[in-house]
Amino acid sequence: MVDPCTFVIFGATGNLAANKLLPALYHLDCAERLPDGLNVIGVGRRDWDDAHWREEVLTGLRDKVRGEGNDGKAFDRFAARLRFVRGDLSERSCYDALQNRLTSEPELSPNVIFYMAIPPADFSIVSQHLADSGLSQEGEGWRRLVVEKPFGYDLESAQLLDKRLHSCFAEEQVFRIDHYLGKGTIQNILVFRFANLLLEPLWNRNYIDHVQIVHAEAQGTGGRAEYYDDAGALRDMIQSHLMQMLTLVAMEPPAVMEAEALRDEKVKVLRSIRPIPQAAVHAHAFRAQYASGNVGGVRVPGYVEEEGVATGSTTETFAALKLYIDNWRWRNVPFYLRTGKRMAENRSLVSVRFKHPPQQLFRETAIEQLTPNWVLLGIQPEECLRMEIQVKETGLEMRTRTVQLDASYDPDGVPMDAYEALLLDVIDGDHSLFLRYDEVAWAWRVVDPVLRVWATERDFIHTYPAGTWGPREANRLFDREDQRWRNRVSLQNDE
Ligand code: BG6
Repeated sequence: MVDPCTFVIFGATGNLAANKLLPALYHLDCAERLPDGLNVIGVGRRDWDDAHWREEVLTGLRDKVRGEGNDGKAFDRFAARLRFVRGDLSERSCYDALQNRLTSEPELSPNVIFYMAIPPADFSIVSQHLADSGLSQEGEGWRRLVVEKPFGYDLESAQLLDKRLHSCFAEEQVFRIDHYLGKGTIQNILVFRFANLLLEPLWNRNYIDHVQIVHAEAQGTGGRAEYYDDAGALRDMIQSHLMQMLTLVAMEPPAVMEAEALRDEKVKVLRSIRPIPQAAVHAHAFRAQYASGNVGGVRVPGYVEEEGVATGSTTETFAALKLYIDNWRWRNVPFYLRTGKRMAENRSLVSVRFKHPPQQLFRETAIEQLTPNWVLLGIQPEECLRMEIQVKETGLEMRTRTVQLDASYDPDGVPMDAYEALLLDVIDGDHSLFLRYDEVAWAWRVVDPVLRVWATERDFIHTYPAGTWGPREANRLFDREDQRWRNRVSLQNDE
C-alpha cells in the first residue's frame, strides 16, 4: 500500500509543472494510482490563493489530458487535492508559510515530497532553506527531494551541488530524475536483454560490430534558448539521457531487480568507459550548429538567429561522441552517441550492428559490402523492436535480401508519459529509475575532457542546414568505412 503524502512543487507556475508534472499527476489520479491522502501544494510568487491556482491548473490541463481524462468529475476530484502557498523561494518566510500550512491542515500528510521544478541555479538555496527551516527533517513522516537535470555544468560543479544537497538531505532522500528512464521503451531494453535467452549470448564484442544511440529532434530550443545556449547538445542530451541509455544497453545483469543492484551495474559501465585524452578529442567527438533550412516544409532560421541565443554563439546543437567500454564484454566495440536539434525528424533509436559471418557463401561481393544483421530498438516516435536478417530471395538465383522481424509489442497501447511512471516511483520510494550521485559524476568524467577542449576552440564550428541529419563530417568518427549512421527503423536506405 502506498503511503499518503503531500507533493510540494517549487516553481508551480512554471513550464515543467504545467506541461509535465500536473498532467502526469492528473492522469495517475484518473487511473486511480494516487493514494487518497495525496495532496499537492504549489509554491510560487504569484498572488494567488487555492481557488485561483485550481482554476489555472484545470484550464491548463483541459487541452493536455488524454481522451478519457477529459471529464468534469475527474477534474473536480483532482482540484480538491490542490493547494497554493505564496512565497519567494529566496526568503525564509516562504518556508515558514509552507511549514505552517503543513502543520495546520490535518488532511496534509507529514510525508512530503519536495519537487524542484525551478532553475538549477536555485537548487542549493532552496535545499538550504528546507534544511534551515527543519522541513527536510524526517520525524513523523518521511521527506523526499526531487531534482531535475542538469546536475551541474561539469564534474566540479556537479560535485559541489551534491555536497550542498547532501548537507541538507541524505542520499536516500534524493531522487535525481532523468525522464528518459521513465520511458517504457527504455525500460524495455532491460526486459529485452534479460528476459530472453536468445540475444544475450551474442551481446558482446565477439558478435557486435558497434552500437549507435541516437536522439534527433526536429524542433529547435523550444523556448529554452537561454538555458540551451549555455549548455549545448553534449551537456543537454549526451551527458544525461544518452549515457543512461548506454548503461542499460551495456550493463551486466544485476543480481536482483533492486535499485542499488541496478545502479551498481550502471556505475560499473560508466567507470569502464575509456577516458578520452584531450589530445584525441577530435577523433572521439564532433560538434556542429544548425544554419537556416527547411523542417517539414517550413523555413526556419539558423540557431544564431533564434531569439535568446547570444550573438555569434558557437554553442553546439549537434554532438556526436565515440566511446569504448574497456571491459570483458565490450572491449574495442565502438559506441556512437549522436544528438541534434533541428534535424530531419524526431527519432530516438538504439541500433546494434552485428559483425559479418566469417564466411561469405552467397554472393560474389566483398565482405565489406554485405548487409549485416541489426537489432533496432525504437524509443520514439515509434516504440518498436526489430531485427534485420538475411533470407533467400524467391527465384532460381541464390540471392539474399534483408527482411525485418518485428517484435514490437502493444502497438495500440496508449503510451504513458515518462513522468507518470517516475512520479509514481517517487511516491512509492523506489529509486531504481533515478540516478545515484556517483552515476552523475562518472558521466561528467566522460564528457569533461571534450567540454574542456571545445571551450578553448570557441571560434569555429561546423554547420548543417536545419532539417537534415547533420554534417557529413560527423562520419569521421567511424572506425571503419563500412560503418554509417542509422537513422531509421525501417528498411529504407539512410542517406
Ligand atoms: C530534455 C532536454 O532533457 O530532453 C531537451 O533538455 C530535449 O533539450 C528533451 O528536447 C527531449 O526529451 P523528449 O522526452 O521530448 O524526447
